[in-house]
Amino acid sequence: MTVAAPEPGFAPAARSIGQALARAVRRLRAAGVPEPDADAQVLLAHVLGTSRTGLIAAARDPLPAEAARRVQEVLRRRERREPVAYIVGEREFWSLPIAVDRRVLVPRPETELLVEVARRLAPDARCVLDCGTGSGAIAAALATELAGARVCASDRSLHGLAVAAVNTARHAPHVRLVGGDLLAPFRDAAFDLVVSNPPYCTDDELATLEPEVRDFEPRVALAAGAAGLDVLHALIADGARVLVPGGWMLLEVGAGQADRVRGVFERDLRYTSVVVEHDHAGIARVVGARRRRVGTWTAS
Ligand SMILES: C[S@@+](CC[C@H](N)C(=O)[O-])C[C@H]1O[C@@H](n2cnc3c(N)ncnc32)[C@H](O)[C@@H]1O
Repeated sequence: MTVAAPEPGFAPAARSIGQALARAVRRLRAAGVPEPDADAQVLLAHVLGTSRTGLIAAARDPLPAEAARRVQEVLRRRERREPVAYIVGEREFWSLPIAVDRRVLVPRPETELLVEVARRLAPDARCVLDCGTGSGAIAAALATELAGARVCASDRSLHGLAVAAVNTARHAPHVRLVGGDLLAPFRDAAFDLVVSNPPYCTDDELATLEPEVRDFEPRVALAAGAAGLDVLHALIADGARVLVPGGWMLLEVGAGQADRVRGVFERDLRYTSVVVEHDHAGIARVVGARRRRVGTWTAS
């Protein structure tokens, strides 16, 4: 095995895996990376093709030269604050490994609540839409959870849909992918369940995002107007058209947006049974409602 040689003009190369890990943590901390220990472990484990536990167990082993070169490469990317998920090319969602790159948002743990609530409120849904699917994570999770459901996943980003195609081919090959603007591609009253984690950042939030999000994640996945509600409002306005009577629309919302979104559902007589669900951090994260079963009465 060739062991890493010192790079000219730099400190001698790390000789062991443990030494490389300690140096990686120091480098990431110096670069202001928020969780340097965890990130260094994940990145080195990725380079060495092992787990974080395997990495610790191999701490005294020599660091192969090729691995040392790749460690430098991944550390440089993380120092520039590229998300770890993009560097390793994967993020777990609903226990499924989901391929990700800069074409799609990295699926967040709190978004699993959308799947949980969908499974609880609409276990018998036969026709399901994940609108704004990005990596396809939600659609893949729903397809594995709702046995027998026909799941459709849509996005306006064709680049994003290419990533969703990889993930659905791996985890849920029957998911149908559709390109287009929100609900425009769909015919009336087709779905028993529509879920969406749409863009919901306000203009002010966009300016204060962490570099990982601001500089790397797609703007189309984040920006939603001054109050961050533009896409949520549009989904509610057009959602009743594509839901069967009794069908559910479930939407992920940003922190502090739930009351306003609930109000929009409550004022719209085409909906009923409005729900608000909280995530593990206690944030009201999912707001949803049912398509009313009876027609609404109008005076004219
Ligand atoms: C917050 S990301 C969510 C991605 C994925 N569903 C997840 O939870 O990880 C929002 C997604 O909505 C898509 N999107 C934004 N505006 C859209 C529109 N008008 N029509 C369809 N998709 C849209 C974006 O391309 C992005 O993939």
